[in-house]
Amino acid sequence: MTDETFQWMAQEIPFRQGESIAAALEAQDIQTFGPDASGQDTRFFCGIGACQCCLVRVGGCVTEACLTPARSGLCVERLAGNDV
Ligand code: FES
Repeated sequence: MTDETFQWMAQEIPFRQGESIAAALEAQDIQTFGPDASGQDTRFFCGIGACQCCLVRVGGCVTEACLTPARSGLCVERLAGNDV
């Protein structure tokens, strides 16, 4: 583990170089990422960008947490149910 972190809902999340946001969140036992448009919790599922189950908001843009590399200083947020 490095001393680099990104922010998730006001919590500092450490990550390893090259790790995705989803993997870093899961390593901290964060299993759900907020509600999707149907009200179901988003989560880390396929890990390859196919299922769209891991959508989060990064710097104001909705993106797949499994495809987005963690970077120091990022602000990652849960979706509101009507974001997608
Ligand atoms: S986990 Fe399936 S798109 Fe990210």
